[in-house]
Amino acid sequence: MKDAQPRVTRLSEYRPPDFLVDTVDLRFELGDEFTLVHSRLALRRNTAAGAGNAPLLLNGQGLSLLSISIDGQALEASNFRYEEDLLEVPSVPERCLLETCVRIEPQKNTALEGLYRSRGMFCTQCEPEGFRRITFFPDRPDVLARFSTEIVAPREGFPVLLSHGNEAARGELPDGRHWVRWEDPFPKPSYLFALVAGDLVSLDDSFTTCSGRTVVLRIFVEPKDLDKCAFGMDALKQSMRWDEEVYGREYDLDIFMIVAVDDFNMGAMENKGLNVFNTSCVLAHPDITTDAGFLRIAGIVAHEYFHNWSGNRVTCRDWFQLSLKEGFTVFRDAQFSADTGASVVRRIENVALLRTAQFAEDGGPMAHPVRPDSYLEINNFYTLTVYEKGAELVRMIRELVGAEAFRRGSDLYFSRHDGQAVTTEDFVRAMEDASGRDLGQFRLWYTQAGTPQLLFRDEYDAADATYRLHVAQSCPPTPGQPQKDPMHVPVRLGLIGSSGELAFTDAGSAKATEHVLELRDAETTFVFTGIPERPVPSLLRGFSAPVKARFDYSSADLERLMRLDTDGFARWDAGQTLALRVLQSRMAGQGGADPDSGLQSAFRALLLDTSADPATVAQMLVLPAETYLGELAEIIDPLAIHAARQSERRALAHSLKAEFLDCYSRLTPEADYRVDPVQVGRRSLRNACAHYLSLLGDAQCRALLREQYHAARNMTDRLAALTALVQGDPDPQASGATALLQDFEARWRHEALALNLWFSVQAQRPHAGALEDVRALLGHRDFELRNPNRVRALIGAFCSGNAPGFHRADGAGYRFLGEQVKVLDPMNPQVAARLLAPLTRWRRHSPLHADGMRAVLESLRALPALSPDCFEVVNKSLAAPGG
Ligand code: TRP
Ligand code: ZN
Repeated sequence: MKDAQPRVTRLSEYRPPDFLVDTVDLRFELGDEFTLVHSRLALRRNTAAGAGNAPLLLNGQGLSLLSISIDGQALEASNFRYEEDLLEVPSVPERCLLETCVRIEPQKNTALEGLYRSRGMFCTQCEPEGFRRITFFPDRPDVLARFSTEIVAPREGFPVLLSHGNEAARGELPDGRHWVRWEDPFPKPSYLFALVAGDLVSLDDSFTTCSGRTVVLRIFVEPKDLDKCAFGMDALKQSMRWDEEVYGREYDLDIFMIVAVDDFNMGAMENKGLNVFNTSCVLAHPDITTDAGFLRIAGIVAHEYFHNWSGNRVTCRDWFQLSLKEGFTVFRDAQFSADTGASVVRRIENVALLRTAQFAEDGGPMAHPVRPDSYLEINNFYTLTVYEKGAELVRMIRELVGAEAFRRGSDLYFSRHDGQAVTTEDFVRAMEDASGRDLGQFRLWYTQAGTPQLLFRDEYDAADATYRLHVAQSCPPTPGQPQKDPMHVPVRLGLIGSSGELAFTDAGSAKATEHVLELRDAETTFVFTGIPERPVPSLLRGFSAPVKARFDYSSADLERLMRLDTDGFARWDAGQTLALRVLQSRMAGQGGADPDSGLQSAFRALLLDTSADPATVAQMLVLPAETYLGELAEIIDPLAIHAARQSERRALAHSLKAEFLDCYSRLTPEADYRVDPVQVGRRSLRNACAHYLSLLGDAQCRALLREQYHAARNMTDRLAALTALVQGDPDPQASGATALLQDFEARWRHEALALNLWFSVQAQRPHAGALEDVRALLGHRDFELRNPNRVRALIGAFCSGNAPGFHRADGAGYRFLGEQVKVLDPMNPQVAARLLAPLTRWRRHSPLHADGMRAVLESLRALPALSPDCFEVVNKSLAAPGG
């Protein structure tokens, strides 16, 4: 049941809880028809909160209350009230035991929040506000309690019963049921609660911590998936070691468990000692998982594990502080991925994600600060801004205070706040206290939304060997924030001379080839003396700040950076800037026969350079994404952007066919498949070449790709060949792609994760008739609207990754999305609201498209029972800009 008008929650209205919970004892009786949840809360009035006689208010959503008592006395109906998702008991003793029994129906829970069933098993998702769908509780992250959980279920079908902490007891009941009791010694907020019951098997291992304790590690899956756990286990052990070595963080319980669940709204969840994972984020096997999939899995396993400290031991005071745990933990998992793999390539991938998706969010109607100050539905705030931009903020702090002070700061943060629920302010203060740096102005990054712009200009005076770099910063208005103050921005700078990097000093510092400039004012000039020649500035090395930077580089400047810059990220970025120009001139209609000799010669040099790192070259061959091009344009014309990018890719394929072929055949696959940086890099470059070659649609390349598909011994190479033929080749009939799609389907029909790839490849085939393909696939026997992964693989992939299909001029793509959201919203509002993202930016499109997008949003707004999730997205999208 939904509120008629969702209420706004504001940070400014935060108040400490009136009641605290010392212990929670839960008892679940799981059943097919219904589940009983018995709860006993040891409550205590929070004297620090002030209000001495405030009523007891507990959250509870959709619960059937069967009994309620205080200190053993059943409550009369007149002594409590359960209305509008709140249980109110007007008068309770200062300390008391509240016992309730509620009845819930997990088998009917399609929203996948709270307790629900996924392919027969019982599982939970409580973050952020799912626990209130299980039992009555002050369901807010600043109430930390010690949990014990008893689970009773039929042995048949549910041999495995899991919750947190340590198993304390187990037993059998005479009726064929059994029970297990778990006790978690660490106080935790309700959002970290988890329970799992099912017919599961586990891969078991162990880890010895730095202080010599042995921790049991178990990954639970359905029996058919037991062969897909080894990689995740390895990633887990690596993460545990890394967190000890890099952050001094040791694991704190005797057992750490992961459970893989098929129906899951997001990637994974860090419940204390019992992480629950979307199968797509933990199950891995070379036959069904691509290299990108493997790396993603390692990153997510690390992410959830790292939450044990950044999130669980130190948690959030309220949901406005979400980035406290998410931004910091994304930063930590990115550091881990960089340390254990190809660091430059990982950084490039991160930046590409920021620029395409996070910048778009920051420039649209849902833009919000990293620490938002209001929301309607907190589920809508698990965003790229909170996660990815939040991680960039932590990264900038490290850039500003230095690696050593940063580590002292994190140690101080963890020791000062262990067991507490705190704020982003507490995090920044720990960094200040440990480093002695003033981060006062830096705090604006947490409260101001929008992507800052830096405009650079330079001057070189040969006579006195002086180089001046001028910077002007600004930040565009965002909803509710018309005016912005200048930010504190770290700008990592190098100066590239005609034959390489120059050493220089910054404000009297020692000579070095790189410095971190600190920008604070709206306009600044940095002066460098003793510079022997006019340099090309290498700006924002490593992407030292999440900003849009402009500098009027000549093509020769960019080529110099691509050739001589020692910063791998900056070399890639120079190539992206060069490519951007070529694409922008194509879009402006200047796309003649050979508009881009600069790009072609740069690509040729890359393909011929056998000493270059293949993984980096592969990244450099990828033209800027369509969404990034749109983000940079005044008015987004998705069809023109797609056409320009496509024709440029085709032109490159034509003029560099020999080089692509040569590079492709040089990189023959190794016999044994391993996910190591060298192999992954080689495969990524070979497959990048394959994709260019597919655009030619010639017989030779088709034969090569079909051969690759059939000869492939792993999903990376097989899927790359299939994708190239389906999406690159102008004619899928002649290319043989149709037959390969059938082959793929037959091979992988029973592997849900592989079949998702099959749905996505087709959903993203760029042509005007793609909508009809997608409609046909909705009727496929294996398509299920109830499984979020499948919805994302088909509907999500089409709407956010198929411009010609989704943005077709008659608006049918938009109406299709509207229809799907309308059906999905009553089932699963979280997933429905996320699907709407491509429509939110309608104002930036030309009227032809904007009208169609707006019409769909308006039709959704007119629905009688829209969820708060979709309501918020739809209303903010339609609101007057700046409002
Ligand atoms: N805390 C989870 C993470 O590590 C996010 C998450 C998982 C989540 N499942 C969710 C958030 C469901 C909201 C709803 O990033
Ligand atoms: Zn997280």
